[in-house]
Amino acid sequence: MQILDGQLTSRLIRDELKLKVAQLITEGKKTPHLAAVLIGNNGASETYVAAKVKACSEIGFKSSLIKLEDSISENKLIQLIADLNADIDVDGILVQLPLPKHISDEKIINAIDPSKDVDGFHPINIGRLVQGLPAFVPATPHGIMLLLEHYRIDTSGMHAVIVGRSNIVGRPMSILLSGNTNPGNCTVTLCHSRTRDLPSFCRQADILVAALGKPEFVTADMVKPGAIVIDVGITRLPDASKKSGFALRGDVHFQEVAPKCSFITPVPGGVGPMTIAALMKNTFAACSNKN
Ligand code: GUN
Repeated sequence: MQILDGQLTSRLIRDELKLKVAQLITEGKKTPHLAAVLIGNNGASETYVAAKVKACSEIGFKSSLIKLEDSISENKLIQLIADLNADIDVDGILVQLPLPKHISDEKIINAIDPSKDVDGFHPINIGRLVQGLPAFVPATPHGIMLLLEHYRIDTSGMHAVIVGRSNIVGRPMSILLSGNTNPGNCTVTLCHSRTRDLPSFCRQADILVAALGKPEFVTADMVKPGAIVIDVGITRLPDASKKSGFALRGDVHFQEVAPKCSFITPVPGGVGPMTIAALMKNTFAACSNKN
């Protein structure tokens, strides 16, 4: 069994971007600028956005963190996005999800200029992705593809089983793995909460992507010997022994599943850091596309 080290791979990608930014500066060109919008006080969202902003500053990107009260109206948020769309210095816009209940995800995502939609959530980018055209690819599935690429895993002809059909992870992952690309060229099964006998599908997977948000859901009996297991879950469980007050758990029962796998991502240190690396790549691309 080999660990797919997202921490290390993300570091390599970010170091590469750092060199590219230094190059832009020597050429007198503009540095990439990401605007991150964070609404309310969701602890996990605050941590994720802080990590994204920190990655920007390490690489040499400019970033703007816009923190808003939970009570902000949908119209005010749409106006703010319109201002960011119009700001020629801003290359990428990210609105951290989930949003407060009174704000429609759909309206907010649609308000972002597709050329600045570094999250790849806008229907234009999703549509382009489905058609195999150049597009911003959502950061988590994009990061998983980069991780498979880094470890030179030849996925061609494999059966990929994805558990979870979210717009952020499962669905775009199914499109990417089924594409005529390398990695890619998989036969994909997309499972979800209504799938009958889910364990029987999981057992057929050469690549199993767990993205359902249920801690330690995937157990050893659900995994084929030699499978590649990608754990997207990151749930905070109360743990008084930790300084933070919580422990992180993936969707995979790592201890019992790892010995059966050919490759597996740990939590933390697997998919999470790759999501940041992919977002940084998207932000760099948004800036390059302009030049
Ligand atoms: N919430 C969970 N994952 C993501 C992500 O990749 N982007 C944004 N904007 N919000 C998220």
